[in-house]
Formats: sequence, C-alpha cells, structure tokens
Amino acid sequence: MPIKVDFLRNHPDCIEACTNWEYTTWGKDYGWTRERVMAGYKSMTRKENTEQAFVALSKNKPVGTVLLIENDHENYKQYRPWLAALYVDPDYRRKGIARKLVTTVKDFAHSRGEDQLFLYTASPNIYSEMGWQIIETFEEDNSQRFLMNTKLAVHCG
Ligand SMILES: CC(C)(COP(=O)(O)OP(=O)(O)OC[C@H]1O[C@@H](n2cnc3c(N)ncnc32)[C@H](O)[C@@H]1OP(=O)(O)O)[C@@H](O)C(=O)NCCC(=O)NCCS
Repeated sequence: MPIKVDFLRNHPDCIEACTNWEYTTWGKDYGWTRERVMAGYKSMTRKENTEQAFVALSKNKPVGTVLLIENDHENYKQYRPWLAALYVDPDYRRKGIARKLVTTVKDFAHSRGEDQLFLYTASPNIYSEMGWQIIETFEEDNSQRFLMNTKLAVHCG
C-alpha cells in the first residue's frame, strides 16, 4: 500500500478529515469548537506560517496527519518546536504510517535549521521505539504525561 506524506497545504480537500480527527480525539475534551480546530488547520496551510500540517495519503484518501508547531504546552514555553496531533485512521494502523509522518516532520524541521523537536504524550513507547527520549514526566488530568525530545541529525561539511 503506497503511502505518500505531503504538506496539508497541497491538499486543501483533506482539511476537513484532519479537523474531524483532531476534534474528536482531543479538541472536544479541551473544550474547543470544531470551528476553532478547523481554523487552526486552515492557518497551517499558509506557506509562510512556521507551523505546518502534514497529511498521509493512500490513493489520494487522507489516512493520517501530524503537526509541526511552535509550542504544545503552556508550562514548557522554553522548548520549541513541537510535533503534535499525530493521528492515523484506525483502518490503517500498524502499517508504519505514524513512523512515516514523524520522519517527515523531523526531515522538514531539520531542513529549515532546527536541531531538535519536542512533544508530550501519555503513550511514550511509540516514540521511544522511534528514538525519542523522555526528558520529564508530569501529571495532567489524573494521568502521567511524558515530555520527550529527539535530536535532529547534524549537517557535516
Ligand atoms: C499512535 C498512532 C498514531 C500510531 O499510528 P500507526 O500508523 O499505527 O503507527 P506505526 O504503524 O507507524 O507504528 C510505529 C511504532 O509505534 C509503536 N506502536 C504503534 N501503535 C502502537 C500501539 N497501539 N501500542 C504499542 N505500540 C505501538 C510500534 O513500536 C510501532 O512499530 P512496529 O509496528 O514496527 O512495532 C495511532 O495508533 C493513533 O492515531 N492513535 C490515536 C491518536 C494517538 O494516540 N496519537 C498519539 C498521541 S501522542
């Protein structure tokens, strides 16, 4: 199954699917409206925005998404940039799509000169498997969260 990962800005017809995934998985529990989530995705389809959304496509059908954003947690504003809102359609899981989305964000961040990335999660194993390190743990909504980071490859020469 060939999977392509691309900037969401090249696939505006996928904004709605990405909005629905983020809204139903996280946004509504944070008290956000669907419109607010969609406005965020739309703003990340502007090429000049430092924050960008990516979409994974199977035969032009959106099957996953991820974000590169400036900050994802108000208690850790000293860190940037962040990988966030990684999501893969349940019918397409365990096929390496999340790994591909994460690699795309890392490569893009590296290409624009970033030397590391941060994220926070309740499920650190997925990212540990991909080489991310836990740098801190904290409690949120009665469950443990893991602040993680990964170094991006250093250019030689
Ligand atoms: C987490 C999620 C993005 C993984 O997507 P995926 O495309 O199935 O992941 P991949 O196939 O690329 O898996 C990469 C690695 O992550 C780990 N992994 C993925 N899903 C896992 C799971 N449910 N349990 C344990 N490890 C898992 C595995 O090590 C896997 O490698 P392997 O298949 O070679 O063993 C997907 O399950 C999802 O969208 N979940 C709901 C949203 C979510 O929890 N997002 C992460 C928030 S921080």
